[in-house]
Amino acid sequence: MKKIIIGNWKLNLDHLQGIQLLQKINYSLPKDVEENIDIVLAPSHTSLRSLQTVISTDKLKIKLSSQDVSMYKEGAYTGEVSSTQLEKLDISYSIIGHSERRTLLNENDEIINQKLKRLLEQRITPIFEIIFAYEPIWAIGTGQVATIENIIEVLDFTKNLISSKSFYDQEKSRFIYGGSVSPDNSEEILNLNIVDGALVGGASLDSDKFVKIVNSIKL
Ligand code: 13P
Repeated sequence: MKKIIIGNWKLNLDHLQGIQLLQKINYSLPKDVEENIDIVLAPSHTSLRSLQTVISTDKLKIKLSSQDVSMYKEGAYTGEVSSTQLEKLDISYSIIGHSERRTLLNENDEIINQKLKRLLEQRITPIFEIIFAYEPIWAIGTGQVATIENIIEVLDFTKNLISSKSFYDQEKSRFIYGGSVSPDNSEEILNLNIVDGALVGGASLDSDKFVKIVNSIKL
């Protein structure tokens, strides 16, 4: 399974800073690394168009993810961004059901389910379902990473649970870890067979750290 590293920039960086970080990351990544590892950046909605323009103009292989999507297709929903609008921007992925949105913005399973449907309608890969992310809440932004035993146990449990479901696709489903991933722990985590990648928050805002995390995958 091709591994994936996703940089979730959360509520950081304006579009100019985003372009700079994209260019730094691209410059520092080993040549053609994207043939072996999917590299995905998830900036704020306001930066997606600018980054997409740089990516398409410079023919970069880095892919984009949104950090969220509306549960609605279109209509009078002030402030929402639809999956159709994201699809038009060549956005390949979308994070849904993130614990920060559940706990801080009151998102529940019903809302997340609707969002999932909207993404699948536009063939945008949800980072949640088709990519299943294990992000222990206590490990997010705390510097406390889960133990290797814990990661293996939870991903193994999730995989067993999901693999019995009708929508499970062995070829396409990836199981990734997130929560205080840094260059100090990425080698051990990312080279586990059961871990198909990482969802990186804080460390993805620093190009050196992000590229070190990518480079810690043994190809
Ligand atoms: P940190 O890497 O900052 O812990 O964030 C993890 C996360 O929430 C990624 O989506």
